[in-house]
Amino acid sequence: EKGNYRHFMQKEIFEQPTVVAQTLGSYLRQSDNSVALPQFDFDISSIRRVTIVACGTSYYAGMVAKYWFEQFARVPVDIDVASEFRYRDPVLEDGGLSLFISQSGETADTLAALRHCKEQGQTIAAVVNVPTSSMAREADLLLPTHAGPEIGVASTKAFTCQLAVLAALAAHMAVTKGLMSREEEQEVVGHLLEAPACLNAALDHDDDIASMAHLIAPARDVLYLGRGPDYPMALEGALKLKEISYIHAEGYASGEMKHGPIALIDDDVPVIVLAPSGPLFEKTVSNMEEVRARGGQIVLISDAKGLEEAGEGCMATIEMPKVHPLIAPLVYAVPVQLLAYHVACVKGTDVDQPRNLAKSVTVE
Ligand code: F6R
Repeated sequence: EKGNYRHFMQKEIFEQPTVVAQTLGSYLRQSDNSVALPQFDFDISSIRRVTIVACGTSYYAGMVAKYWFEQFARVPVDIDVASEFRYRDPVLEDGGLSLFISQSGETADTLAALRHCKEQGQTIAAVVNVPTSSMAREADLLLPTHAGPEIGVASTKAFTCQLAVLAALAAHMAVTKGLMSREEEQEVVGHLLEAPACLNAALDHDDDIASMAHLIAPARDVLYLGRGPDYPMALEGALKLKEISYIHAEGYASGEMKHGPIALIDDDVPVIVLAPSGPLFEKTVSNMEEVRARGGQIVLISDAKGLEEAGEGCMATIEMPKVHPLIAPLVYAVPVQLLAYHVACVKGTDVDQPRNLAKSVTVE
């Protein structure tokens, strides 16, 4: 039931601190800040390559995970959308781990890709939210998200829970490979455990986001920009806006702007910039200046420090708590979800049942 919420999507966005904490609780041990994944009957330290396959929002979770696997476990990662992966002839190395991410666990293309990899002798891991689903049953290694049933067609809480599981898995692999010391593990786990409180702090800005939604609602096109692990979050923001408000939106890696999309910029195209302060901040700000110089209207999503440095002259700003870069993708999911939600409300679209979309995509 929706309780006090207007829509399931809104309720599910607000459940994120709780369900992310629940999910983290089953992969991390709080008493000593360590990773505590289920026992596998194979040696995860011998995995030489990870192949990630998923669709839509789950695919974006995979894109974020690629950064983490590379950074922590120093393992090469291939990633593809399931509908492309299954029709090429992917090279799968012996001893590889194939990782499938799916809220429903039933997405036809992802399931077909899973079966293909299984036939090829890959070890199959599945991050799924429905424990009775086909993918959950067919995986060698089941990594459940504990988001609870997701009713809104646009995925929100399942996504942040996927990120939580994937971060724990990447850290686990790093620990087993001897690449993460006990101190580093404690530090990483400590940051992950900060995520629920930071998600709450992000949700506190709901009213600010609601009150600026009318600035985006009239737009025909919207661009989202981000760098590093926040680039997939730009893609996710654009997808959410498209899905529920029917506004055309594109996500771009900030540095790619000047290679084409900058031609679109004029004062009718709002540009949403995701830029937590940190090592990539200055670079993203200089991309933002390129947009501004061409009359672009910017919405900057950053923390207090970032907004102080670069917020002036923006059409609007959305303040996020200051977070460790590891959890920034989880936290920055909130403002892009809320922005899409409130823009859809301004437009009066059917938020929970957007046109042409189904919750579980069982056609190929
Ligand atoms: C976006 C959305 C879809 C799904 C995609 C994959 O909000 O919900 O893009 O993420 O259809 O679905 P699952 O995760 O069930 O495989």
